[in-house]
Amino acid sequence: MNEEQRKQQAQIEQPDNFDRIKNTSSDDMIAKYFQTSYEPQSPDIKKARKRRKEDIQFHYDFSIPEDVATIGKGKKFLIRTYGCQMNEHDTEVMAGILTEMGYESTSSTDDADIILLNTCAIRENAENKVFGEIGHLKPLKLEKPDLIIGVCGCMSQEESVVNRILKKHQHIDLIFGTHNIHRLPQLVKEALFGKEMIVEVWSKEGDVIENLPKVRKGKIKAWVNIMYGCDKFCTYCIVPMTRGKERSRRPEDIIQEVRHLVAQGYQEVTLLGQNVNAYGKDFEDLEYGLGDLMNDIHKIDIPRVRFTTSHPRDFDDRLIEVLAQGGNLLDHIHLPVQSGSTEILKKMNRKYTREEYLELVHKIRKAMPNATLTTDIIVGFPNETEEQFEETMTLMEEVGFEAAYTYIYSPREGTPAARKKDDVPDEVKKQRLYRLNELVNKQSAESMKKYDGKTVKVLVEGESKKNPDVLAGYTERNKLVNFKGPKSSIGKIVEVKITEAKTWSLNGVMVESTVEVN
Ligand code: 5AD
Ligand code: SF4
Repeated sequence: MNEEQRKQQAQIEQPDNFDRIKNTSSDDMIAKYFQTSYEPQSPDIKKARKRRKEDIQFHYDFSIPEDVATIGKGKKFLIRTYGCQMNEHDTEVMAGILTEMGYESTSSTDDADIILLNTCAIRENAENKVFGEIGHLKPLKLEKPDLIIGVCGCMSQEESVVNRILKKHQHIDLIFGTHNIHRLPQLVKEALFGKEMIVEVWSKEGDVIENLPKVRKGKIKAWVNIMYGCDKFCTYCIVPMTRGKERSRRPEDIIQEVRHLVAQGYQEVTLLGQNVNAYGKDFEDLEYGLGDLMNDIHKIDIPRVRFTTSHPRDFDDRLIEVLAQGGNLLDHIHLPVQSGSTEILKKMNRKYTREEYLELVHKIRKAMPNATLTTDIIVGFPNETEEQFEETMTLMEEVGFEAAYTYIYSPREGTPAARKKDDVPDEVKKQRLYRLNELVNKQSAESMKKYDGKTVKVLVEGESKKNPDVLAGYTERNKLVNFKGPKSSIGKIVEVKITEAKTWSLNGVMVESTVEVN
């Protein structure tokens, strides 16, 4: 079929396609959807806990099928990303696949022929945002019936979300899960030419798919997945259900990807996983953990290496010993603590006590005296008492975290904590968050003040969002620096003298002679 025929067909068939959705009862569709061989992964913690022993398959043969290789020619795509770096990186993969199919990217919904919402399920407000956006897109779909709208990412792994879309948002053409990204070419084809709303959500996640194309955001910093999934089962968290069991990529594949990024001129890589400290625990033929991987990447000629996110329980001595070598291994460690109370940590199934966490901090500080520590904290976990919350406040001070992502607990369907009765009023939870944030701001401002008058190394990422005459970048310890300097320094590591410390960022001037530092 040529482009003209396809256009004509789209014009004729697509309105019908939309009408058929509206004319089919949602119960018919739900019945159909449950008949398919694909099973949505309703959060089922018991089932999920049994999966650890299942085999992991590696696939190296990804390619775009011939019949869809030019399907996107002359068309545009837009992907909206919600949530964590893992989702940002998945978006880079989906952008890579769509680009190989001939699509070009656009930032305007009006220009787009395909819009994907890459969603996050971690808290209720993240989900509400997505449902808001799904609603906003309806008039556009009515106006342009041949537009394809897809929902993917973590929310599409939840059965309740899929059912809600099927029942109430029939203008959506395509729903696919986090384990189905590599099937995007076939799914787009089915959505374009099929007669049905396409739902493909695999609950089985045994596979690691290598060699997927990627269009990375920018040419300076890159994300590299080292593992997928999480087997920690913290009682508040939906991730083990939406992202599946822990699967580590083979070290040689990761190292090859990093080498490739070096060859392309990237200056920084961030190794990604929901729980990177569990890296390698699933290898049956190899004793090789995150410490070993970092040690190997340490030898590669890339100026900066970061990793996120860590779980304190698996943060072992080998990793600390490797990180202490410094060099390209930066001494900023993001170490989510979640709570300062041992009782709450137990209810969260975090598998460490306050004392054990402090002991780990002590070990890290001993090996890396200048390390910056940042964290994640949840306030208002079910039945958290005032005293337990106070323990979080004192831990925040005792560790001296320089930044923290803070959240009010959000019940997630299917998680053990969501079944608990909760006697803490919302107003109290908000108050606690407010008090914690005041402390976080104070500690951040204090940590920034230490840099006043000092010279720091900054990887220059580009112009500041607020003022194009000002450049912006991050220090080794992840402090945002805005400074005046030549545009030729973008993409390089330069020295900047700090002239002003603010709460969340530093201002400075570039030390002129350093533009060729690397
Ligand atoms: N409610 C609030 N915060 C949560 N997080 C994870 N699940 C929840 C939840 N149900 C937070 C944790 C985690 C971060 C990514 O999100 O602090 O470290
Ligand atoms: Fe969720 Fe992180 Fe706990 Fe895994 S380790 S269950 S991703 S909070």
